Amino acid sequence: MTSLCHARIAGTGSFLPPRRLTNGDMVAMLARRGVETSDQWIVERTGIRARHFADTGVTSSDLALQAAQQALEAAGRRAEELDLIIVATSTPDMVFPSTACILQRKLGVHGCPAFDLQAVCSGFVYALAVADSMVRAGSARCALVVGAEVFSRILDFDDRTTCVLFGDGAGAVVLEASPVPGILASELHADGRHLEILCTPGTVSGGRVLGDPLLKMDGPAVFKLAVGVLESAARAVLAKAGRTEADLDWLVPHQANIRIMHSTARKLRLPADKLVATVAEHGNTSAASVPLALDVAVRSGRIRRGDTVMLEGVGGGFTWGAVLLDY
Ligand code: UT7
Repeated sequence: MTSLCHARIAGTGSFLPPRRLTNGDMVAMLARRGVETSDQWIVERTGIRARHFADTGVTSSDLALQAAQQALEAAGRRAEELDLIIVATSTPDMVFPSTACILQRKLGVHGCPAFDLQAVCSGFVYALAVADSMVRAGSARCALVVGAEVFSRILDFDDRTTCVLFGDGAGAVVLEASPVPGILASELHADGRHLEILCTPGTVSGGRVLGDPLLKMDGPAVFKLAVGVLESAARAVLAKAGRTEADLDWLVPHQANIRIMHSTARKLRLPADKLVATVAEHGNTSAASVPLALDVAVRSGRIRRGDTVMLEGVGGGFTWGAVLLDY
């Protein structure tokens, strides 16, 4: 009997809600509130040209469902075959139950473990590493790993330093047990000393929201930390897998700022055309950004079977991590 001691991505999917706001739309929307910004500032500082916002009443689990259905179809799997569901999100549908349980119900299945994982913009990389461990340990054979967010709900539209950066979306992969890798290595980190530089501090208590439930970010502080940890995580995960930068076919980093992505690619001596960058079309979608970018690169035929791919996340917590895989 063949031993299935690795995990490999069998299929990918993604979904952006149809309401698309260009930078021009944001400029006009913010001007009505007396907040000044420009297409030029947003493009030059971030590379973002548009973002998608979910309509009122549309939740993370709705976006997750669309991405999950695509990933299942690409993997040639039915929802009934799933034996694990992990949803990475910082914008869950409700306090509880988890968005993963809501997604499970929307997929029309029941029984398998389902839980949310909260690591903000590193959420998908964390969730993929956890699912990989569970598959390798033999406790799952067909896992759905999703990143889904509705960050538009926690944006302060009077704060131009944050509200132009984020958007809504979802991405998903089906991870299955395999005799060959698959996922080669992962590297996860957190440093709670930096809680304040990226946070949404409000909470629900006694029937009210306590504290400010809108996103706060010290952009330059996050930027500085991000470029450092993305390089160190990349080098660590390559070393763990016994590979070097020269083995990399694709870098799929968290889609927050094109300048951070270019800096990481440069440090890894990766040509710009090996960097998967989709931030222009959807802005920062937090935990959804890495699987969204991965799916776009797979569906467009850029990432092919056998390619060596590095996924990287960084965000609030402070959290960061990398997953290295042979696609
Ligand atoms: O998802 C987790 C990971 N997140 C990230 O990786 C985000 C990391 N940070 C960044 O991407 C960048 O720091 C930002 C894009 C957030 C900001 O870019 P920056 O080059 O660091 O700009 P800054 O914050 O230093 O601001 C420069 C100027 C300021 O004006 P003064 O003080 O120089 O007069 C800001 O007030 O740009 C101004 N500014 C804006 N101007 C027009 C800030 N936001 C805007 C805006 N439109 N939306």
